[in-house]
Amino acid sequence: MAVNEKDVELIVKQILNEMSGSGSGASSSFGASASKSSYSGPIPKTARVAMLVEKERFEVKEFPIPEVGDDDILVRVEGCGVCGTDAHEFKRDPFGLIPVALGHEGTGEIVKMGKNVKKDSAGKDLHVGDKVVTCMIFRDDPEITMFDLNKQNVGEADVYGLLPDDDVHLNGWFSDYIFIRKGSTIFNVSDLDLDSRVLIEPSAVLVHAVERAKTTGILRFNSRVAVQGCGPIGLICIAVLRTMGIQNITAIDGNAKRLEFAKKLGADRTVDFNDHNGIEALTKAVEDSFGGHLADFAFQCTGNPKAHANIYKFIRNGGGLCELGFFVNGGDATINPHFDLCSKEINLVGSWVYTLRDYGTTFDFLKRAKAIGLPVTDLITHKFPLEEINEALKTNLDMTGLKIAVIMPPGA
Ligand SMILES: NC(=O)c1ccc[n+]([C@@H]2O[C@H](COP(=O)([O-])OP(=O)(O)OC[C@H]3O[C@@H](n4cnc5c(N)ncnc54)[C@H](O)[C@@H]3O)[C@@H](O)[C@H]2O)c1
Ligand SMILES: [Zn+2]
Repeated sequence: MAVNEKDVELIVKQILNEMSGSGSGASSSFGASASKSSYSGPIPKTARVAMLVEKERFEVKEFPIPEVGDDDILVRVEGCGVCGTDAHEFKRDPFGLIPVALGHEGTGEIVKMGKNVKKDSAGKDLHVGDKVVTCMIFRDDPEITMFDLNKQNVGEADVYGLLPDDDVHLNGWFSDYIFIRKGSTIFNVSDLDLDSRVLIEPSAVLVHAVERAKTTGILRFNSRVAVQGCGPIGLICIAVLRTMGIQNITAIDGNAKRLEFAKKLGADRTVDFNDHNGIEALTKAVEDSFGGHLADFAFQCTGNPKAHANIYKFIRNGGGLCELGFFVNGGDATINPHFDLCSKEINLVGSWVYTLRDYGTTFDFLKRAKAIGLPVTDLITHKFPLEEINEALKTNLDMTGLKIAVIMPPGA
């Protein structure tokens, strides 16, 4: 449904209020928290949605913005990161979702919400004008009912940007507006800048991985840590470790530009595998980087099975490993269970996605990383407008940049 007469009346009232400098009425569903808001225009009747209509082709379609019910939230999208999962879906549609509105690393501003919506999933107040993100935790994930975030039951989390199209259509963050329904997991992140907000979802993956690593009891303030793979995942891993105070970090990759960026995000030393012939030479290079010691702990951040097999060699006896590089099946790896795992008494943890609790920690990570001068938001190397969504996905697949984002013009 389009904007109705009552809404038009409210918009006019809001504009008049703003012109007279009296601010907006908090009871109105428009315009509360106007000081925080970067958007003051009326809500249009329709929104553009980038719909993946076939493999490797998005079409930007126009759909009516539905009537906002008592439990719904309408968000004007400000930006959304392109994830490896989006690229995977774009190229191959492995999940059979087409037609689908993609984009799950998005953020934007609440422009209208139903009268029953009062708090976010962490119990923080929600108002029109607040900046928000959703969280991609699946409805049937037992963590959702197990977890008690700030003593609140956050059940029924809904997923945006990864479910097949329905009659609402405004289901993904690659769009002008997204329509958030009852029971969805939503967080008020008004105190983070736009680029940081775009990085929340991938950062949560690393906050979770580090929490998993900590369960081994090995990761300490003064640990020697190897991070293998310096794509966005490995680079954010380095930033999370550094933000926690870990200083002794060696980054391993074959891409000189990425290794350089790893230093900016907190790696002390880098090892380019192209400079070392064979696993023994590579292991020696990692050992040298730690002044003649193997790593106490290692994070495996590539989707390469050979890299999984290699990483055991870099770890000392009794050390730890967090394997997080295989979000999807990347094939089998061959290790020697005696030499690599058993006789070394390696403490191994796997890590996949995140929990709702990690989201809260992630907001703090992004704030603290900025406060200590880590240029985390420089990870966003390319920004595209919505109409260039196909180029954005292709740039992600080319691997010429780091994090690719679709960013809406302010106030559009
Ligand atoms: N655990 C999770 O929940 C989760 C979430 C998101 C992504 N992932 C996975 O994390 C992995 C990394 O993601 P990304 O976005 O950074 O990917 P990416 O492809 O941008 O980066 C991977 C990096 O690994 C490097 N690399 C490849 N083989 C290597 C080797 N043998 N030794 C050292 N470096 C090597 C590449 O040069 C590249 O820089 C992906 O495989 C993805 O599936 C996991
Ligand atoms: Zn993602």
